[in-house]
Amino acid sequence: MSAAVGIALTGSGAATPDRVVTNDELSLWLDTSDDWIRSRTGIAARRIATAEDSLESLASQAAKQALEQAGWRPDQVDLILLATSSPEDLFGSAPAVQAALEANNAVAFDITAACSGFLFALITAAQYIRSGAYQRVLVVGADLLSRWVDWQDRRTCVLFGDGAGAVAMEAAPEGWDGLPTMVMGTDGRRRNCLTMAHRATTQVLHNQLQAGSGGFHPIAMDGQEVYKFAVQQVPLVLNQALKQAGITAEQLDWLLLHQANERILASVAQRLGIPAAKVLSNLGNYGNTSAATIPLMLHEAVEAQRIRPGHLIASSGFGAGLSWGAALLRWGRPDAP
Ligand code: UT7
Repeated sequence: MSAAVGIALTGSGAATPDRVVTNDELSLWLDTSDDWIRSRTGIAARRIATAEDSLESLASQAAKQALEQAGWRPDQVDLILLATSSPEDLFGSAPAVQAALEANNAVAFDITAACSGFLFALITAAQYIRSGAYQRVLVVGADLLSRWVDWQDRRTCVLFGDGAGAVAMEAAPEGWDGLPTMVMGTDGRRRNCLTMAHRATTQVLHNQLQAGSGGFHPIAMDGQEVYKFAVQQVPLVLNQALKQAGITAEQLDWLLLHQANERILASVAQRLGIPAAKVLSNLGNYGNTSAATIPLMLHEAVEAQRIRPGHLIASSGFGAGLSWGAALLRWGRPDAP
């Protein structure tokens, strides 16, 4: 894909709630164990939001860091995309991020695509920049799924954690492409594999009139089906993205997948022939933070100077929908050392 306008990824940020919950703590009330959770998923602990924490505040903290790292003023932000499936306002939580940043010249809206949400938002942001419509976009992924799991359902509640991450994306000189290829897909026929569905209840308004009420069921997942889908689909889409860019797996610096299960990371890396040393993983500390996993991991790796300017990263998100996306990312701006 040739770009009339270049794209640069120039800042990252992350924020998580303070409360750490270990596997051992979960086994205080659930029929589970540290051994089961670690061996099946790679998760050792997760962060859980208390009633005082807020998705909008964590998303804003992450976005502010990304903005500062990019060196932008708040009034220079054109667009804020917030990928989330657990907004604090069903009309959209992105405007709260805009207000917290005082990014008063931006337009801000939510994107809902579960664990693929961040990648979908990043790809969407790239389209606005390529078209010339916007120059500076903050892409945020944030989810507090601890509010939406059934804490008695050991098949799901042990997997998820809370967090937020953000990336700053800006227009760059032609020829510098921070997002050279992308692939996206959904299969609505398999939507029931992973849901947080509307709960239908009735309210009687008067004798002749009833209306439904708002509300949702907790997260329900067919873990094995989603697992099989991930290990089949993710290598396919990553290979497609590599082929589009004319890049081989050996040329990649990092593999940055949605952090759902350590076994999925290992299986995908093996199928692509990517050595374990190039696979980024922080599942052990955070579990599956849904739309936040990719930017949270990216930010940690940037801060630790593992990801450096010019590095090439293959990324893929996957999950409810069923949905999937893949993109190659080139970190940093052209003038960086
Ligand atoms: O972010 C969206 C994308 N999501 C994913 O990618 C998740 C994909 N799926 C997975 O990662 C895995 O399927 C899970 C981690 C969810 C489950 O691992 P699994 O190896 O597929 O386990 P399973 O569902 O086949 O369950 C095996 C056994 C069952 O017991 P029986 O029927 O064999 O007696 C479960 O009841 O493990 C039992 N089990 C547990 N035991 C202790 C399920 N959850 C737990 C638990 N602790 N937390």
